[in-house]
Amino acid sequence: METILIVDDEKNYLVVLEALLSAEGYEIVTANDAKAALATVREADLDMVITDMKMPGMSGMELLEKCKKTKPELPVIMMTAFGTIEMAVEAMKKHAYDYIQKPFENEQLKLTVKKALENYRLVKENKLLTEALSDRFKYGNMIGKSKSMIEVYDLIDKVSRSKASVLITGPSGTGKELISKAIHYQGQRKDRPFISINCGALTETLLESELFGHEKGAFTGAVAMKKGRFELADGGTLFLDEVGEMPPSLQVKLLRVLQEMEFERVGGTRTINVDVRVLSASNRNIKEDVTNGMFREDLYYRLNVIHIDVPSLQERVDDIPLLVRHFIEKFHGADKKNKIELSPEAWKALYAYPWPGNVRELENVIERAVVLHSGGIIKVDDLPEELIGAEAEFDVERFIPPNVPLPKALEEIEERLVRRALAQCNNIQSHAAESLGITKSLIQHKMKKYNIIV
Ligand SMILES: Nc1ncnc2c1ncn2[C@@H]1O[C@H](COP(=O)(O)OP(=O)(O)OP(=O)(O)O)[C@@H](O)[C@H]1O
Ligand SMILES: [Mg+2]
Repeated sequence: METILIVDDEKNYLVVLEALLSAEGYEIVTANDAKAALATVREADLDMVITDMKMPGMSGMELLEKCKKTKPELPVIMMTAFGTIEMAVEAMKKHAYDYIQKPFENEQLKLTVKKALENYRLVKENKLLTEALSDRFKYGNMIGKSKSMIEVYDLIDKVSRSKASVLITGPSGTGKELISKAIHYQGQRKDRPFISINCGALTETLLESELFGHEKGAFTGAVAMKKGRFELADGGTLFLDEVGEMPPSLQVKLLRVLQEMEFERVGGTRTINVDVRVLSASNRNIKEDVTNGMFREDLYYRLNVIHIDVPSLQERVDDIPLLVRHFIEKFHGADKKNKIELSPEAWKALYAYPWPGNVRELENVIERAVVLHSGGIIKVDDLPEELIGAEAEFDVERFIPPNVPLPKALEEIEERLVRRALAQCNNIQSHAAESLGITKSLIQHKMKKYNIIV
């Protein structure tokens, strides 16, 4: 719902304008003088200001100038009395969106307001889009060719076309947030907002007002109306990070919003309707919380219409070489002449390490090594202490589930080795074959067998 602030010292005008515009479905806030108006402009999420020109104290013109300083894009429409057209011209020079003459024609006023709001929405969307692009988000930013990641990509492809709720689970640092962005930017809502909130980082009261917004005076410190993330995400996507941390009382409220797509701001009585796609993530086992009675079962099913489970890095070690190259390019650049390589011992250490912090930890390790290395080679000494001396011990339990017949298990291992060798050698088949000690035709045969396409 779009919110308009009307400023006039004449009460009659306020009443008439409020009635006229709220009938059009806008939310109206009013102020009797420019000073109060300015406070509202600074604190509340407004979509437009309509102000009278002549007022005791601060004038409309001064208010316009101050508005443009705090929120340059917020449209301001000036109301001028007959005979003050020069002032209107000056206001336009100071970037007022438009002016209307008192007494005004209702239809003309409605049209001007509608146009200004449309224009403002475009400006905001453009801004969001450029911010999203400068965030360097591309689907291509997600790296990984392991079987499990290919399955994740397939799921992202499928769910991005629908509006279904998706619950993304997986250990810390596995890329859950990256996946949520991929779903948003792949789908039809990509030009609308992607808003996220960390449910584990705020107190219950704060979380509630962040999610649903609050009215002015709803609680001590609520000096102005504030829209919640659900309202900000209207038409787009809301990402509830660490959703498992949400306190029970808010779980009930969230369930209602998901079912009805409507809610009230804290301290408010008016029902607000939104159209929001909800994605959520958790690195704890919510299913267990449901069994323990910590998380509502009905909410769990609402959030978990589609489930994406992201494997730990340890479960997809064949992604390590690609990720390493990706992060070297990120922190060092893709300069062909000044390439950075890893010594065989350094590779070995990276494979042997269990990566409790997953991709995030690997990213940090590579960033550090790029800084510390010399001579274009990252050596074991450039890696953090906990990685040095990690034994390259092959742990069968980790890779092969119990009760798998031996031939199948050996094939599983063979496939992993072939994939890893190819990734490590930039997909140059002859190099990969050499590193495995087999001929090029044999590696091609294996690639066919395991359906490995490079
Ligand atoms: N597949 C990937 N390819 C490239 N970068 C990745 C990949 N997965 C994760 N990253 C990077 O690792 C870091 C952590 O990712 P992200 O924040 O998405 O993880 P998370 O699962 O949300 O973690 P947490 O549970 O701690 O919030 C980010 O810098 C992200 O860019
Ligand atoms: Mg995260």
